Amino acid sequence: MAIVETYQLSKTYKSGYFKKTSVTALVDASIEVRAGEIFGLLGPNGAGKTTFVKILLSIVRSTNGSAQLLGKPVGDVQSRAHCGYLPENHRYPAFLTALETLLFFGKLNGLQKKGAKDKARQLLEFVGLKEWSDRKIQKFSKGMLQRLGLAQALLNDPEVLFLDEPTDGVDPIGRKEMRDLFLRLKNDGVSIFLNSHLLSEVEMISDRVAILNKGALLKVGTLDEVRGGTTVHRIQIAGLLSPEQIKTIGLESQFLQSDETTTTISVKTDAELNRTIDLLRSWGIMIKSVAQQKSSLEDSFIKLVTNGNPV
Ligand SMILES: Nc1ncnc2c1ncn2[C@@H]1O[C@H](COP(=O)(O)OP(=O)(O)O)[C@@H](O)[C@H]1O
Ligand SMILES: [Mg+2]
Repeated sequence: MAIVETYQLSKTYKSGYFKKTSVTALVDASIEVRAGEIFGLLGPNGAGKTTFVKILLSIVRSTNGSAQLLGKPVGDVQSRAHCGYLPENHRYPAFLTALETLLFFGKLNGLQKKGAKDKARQLLEFVGLKEWSDRKIQKFSKGMLQRLGLAQALLNDPEVLFLDEPTDGVDPIGRKEMRDLFLRLKNDGVSIFLNSHLLSEVEMISDRVAILNKGALLKVGTLDEVRGGTTVHRIQIAGLLSPEQIKTIGLESQFLQSDETTTTISVKTDAELNRTIDLLRSWGIMIKSVAQQKSSLEDSFIKLVTNGNPV
């Protein structure tokens, strides 16, 4: 089942006197997000990611196109009730404690008082803030505030979680903690829609991604599809190969001499890898390492954003 489906979704903001200034934030964006996946919407600042999520949650109205959330047109109150949302740059009153913050949002969510307290405590434990429940949040680091934000987004046991730049400004350990929480949620069956300009973050946990630039979708697909799927194996050996050996291994392989003492052989397929290793071993050559090298998401992202055309 698709949890989010958009068709040629577009948004132009009009502002200024007489609404003369217009900014096109989204152009003809069509995507489908499947239940149970972590979907990463990637793009530089100003690409239109926040606008996209705000339209899905009917905080902002689209100018054109259509969007469905959990099988219903956006704006449906029932569907919205099954969503959790961690907005970007959220601010909570600094004089509240972590628990009070969640109780405040619990009230907004219509949770009963007793139930709200249990739920809040349980969520604080889940996000690793149990010891900090009664501390004022002005003492909290950015990472802790984001984890509190995640707890807030989970108050209504959502089926879908929208996270807007959840790890922006969070230190590496805090980022890892957040990623682990997202994966635990995914294991529990929560679908996650993740907005981010931090490619490597998204690359580590997403099942599928979309690349957005200047409001246009440049690519949508699994990580491998978006990366271009080029994988090579690199075999590093001690010493140099003779011209005969190079000929035997074959012209398909690439030989890169790293320095006087080591040679790196780059092969494309698994079959080639095994054949080459067998040959090297039969010649008594010392293999120092074998590694798989994929083109990174960053490589394809930069390629797409600098010269890509919309899908
Ligand atoms: N309320 C608004 N009024 C006018 N322009 C806006 C508004 N919100 C966003 N924009 C513009 O729309 C574009 C996309 O913004 P946004 O969706 O926030 O991108 P992202 O989240 O990818 O950084 C930007 O050019 C931004 O300046
Ligand atoms: Mg944004």
